[in-house]
Amino acid sequence: MDVQTYLAVLRAEIEAALDAYLPPAAARPARLHAAMRYSIESGGKRLRPVLCLASAEAVGGPCDRAMLPAVALEYLHTYTLIHDDLPAMDNDDLRRGRPTVHKVFGEASAILAGDALLTLAFELLARVAAPPPYPPGQLVAELAAAAGSRGIVGGQFEDLAAEGRAPEAELLAYIHSHKTGQLIRAACRLGAIAAGADAAQLASLTAYGEHIGLAFQIADDVLNVISSPTELGKAVGSDAARKKMTYVALYGLEASRAKARTLMTAAQAALTELGPRAKPLRGLAEYIVARNS
Ligand code: IPE
Ligand code: IPE
Ligand code: MG
Ligand code: MG
Repeated sequence: MDVQTYLAVLRAEIEAALDAYLPPAAARPARLHAAMRYSIESGGKRLRPVLCLASAEAVGGPCDRAMLPAVALEYLHTYTLIHDDLPAMDNDDLRRGRPTVHKVFGEASAILAGDALLTLAFELLARVAAPPPYPPGQLVAELAAAAGSRGIVGGQFEDLAAEGRAPEAELLAYIHSHKTGQLIRAACRLGAIAAGADAAQLASLTAYGEHIGLAFQIADDVLNVISSPTELGKAVGSDAARKKMTYVALYGLEASRAKARTLMTAAQAALTELGPRAKPLRGLAEYIVARNS
């Protein structure tokens, strides 16, 4: 199965689960639930849930055990996008090919829709006990660590604080590994843990997740320069306009692309011990670097 077919099959299952666990549109407060549904139903690549399910498969565990963690990852990711687009942060008008949540529902509703998705993610994840030898609360602990001030929130803080400053390699590495890398790493770990990975398998998937997490954000930096809003579904040229600290700003386009490819190779090498069951993850590493949206 090629990576596009693999993605299409998993995405269909993920879309159904994402819909099933959201509060019904008519449930009170209907406008808040409409904002949550609007952001989730806008699509997106669903990369984090796909990585979670593919990681479960790579350790030979049942994929269905990883579905609730996969849904939690996408709800949490979507909250970060809603808040990232707010006027106080990146102030963007377009996301996933549609007007951003605050443009349609207002700022207060966008903040609350993000809060509610974040909270719902943990409510769902708390229903899944990690199998032994992991402590039952391991999945919740992992996602919380990736999401908080030592994870995404910390990365977002430094990303905003770095606007307008001359790029520096160490700070840039911190920003990218935290605002984006941590959740992608957690996606791989959650899938592996839910499926009962042993220590060596978990270490392999953690290394894979770290490499593709950074590669993914480098590709995002490159696409912000070379793509179009129609293709990407969000603004382009905005990083330079806001003087964001990006790989392209520090290293240029060609060196950034080369770095992403090097990380892809390292990610694939990290999968060697997992054997043929990790084939989809190898293809996903290529997709992450070669994608155009
Ligand atoms: C966008 O993430 C934010 C970054 C971490 C670069 P994605 O590119 O995965 O966004 P969607 O989910 O496909 O919309
Ligand atoms: C990505 O932020 C990370 C999060 C949203 C947490 P960016 O600001 O770089 O991503 P886009 O380009 O708006 O999707
Ligand atoms: Mg941002
Ligand atoms: Mg942004």
